Amino acid sequence: MSATGSVDAAARVRGTRYAAEVAEQTPESVAAPSVTVRPARTADVRTIRSLVAPLAERRVLLQKEAVAYYESVGDFTVAEVGGRVVGCGALHVLWEDLGEVRTLAVDDSVLGQGVGSALLARLVERARLLGLSRLFCLTFETAFFGRHGFEPIDGQAVEPAVYAELLRSYDEGVAEFLDLERVKPNTLGNTRMLRVL
Ligand SMILES: CC(C)(COP(=O)(O)OP(=O)(O)OC[C@H]1O[C@@H](n2cnc3c(N)ncnc32)[C@H](O)[C@@H]1OP(=O)(O)O)[C@@H](O)C(=O)NCCC(=O)NCCS
Repeated sequence: MSATGSVDAAARVRGTRYAAEVAEQTPESVAAPSVTVRPARTADVRTIRSLVAPLAERRVLLQKEAVAYYESVGDFTVAEVGGRVVGCGALHVLWEDLGEVRTLAVDDSVLGQGVGSALLARLVERARLLGLSRLFCLTFETAFFGRHGFEPIDGQAVEPAVYAELLRSYDEGVAEFLDLERVKPNTLGNTRMLRVL
């Protein structure tokens, strides 16, 4: 098994240990203490925004308008504990082979209990199902992502022709991925990381 595979397996084992449910089509809860990971629904958007708000305030995550969350709700996976949504994460497709892990946020009350790992494992699984072979993230959480197979990168993750195509996007996250001058104040101190799937 590759190092990347081992990391993913480790996340799954930990998810199992804490009864995390990571199967794409089986969102049922399991024995307590349990973490259920499932696709987000529109009714989750308010909670997702409340999870993101304090982190956006601290400029850890990108601040977005409500409409942006509804538009991208299909990107989101959420984690529930005891029927309460306590974490979220999104997989945004950037290009044919490339996706981005975005807006991975876990409520302070359950940090360090495997919720983030369960969410990330699901996002990786979804990325593979979509046919992606690389995952990007822009983060302060370098140790967490490093333990999940991401490595810091210098410079761009795409060739110039794809870079030029991505410049056509209106998405602020894509602007951050491209490291455009106008968004540099938002990304100060973040590390650009990549995982090969
Ligand atoms: C990064 C983040 C999502 C991690 O969430 P989390 O739920 O605390 O993550 P986990 O519990 O799975 O893992 C964190 C560490 O806690 C520990 N841990 C994991 N499961 C545990 C458990 N059941 N009991 C005790 N500790 C545990 C481990 O040290 C783990 O590190 P490792 O799995 O990478 O080796 C969370 O810190 C966060 O919301 N950060 C702010 C937003 C952000 O920066 N997001 C990333 C950019 S999009």
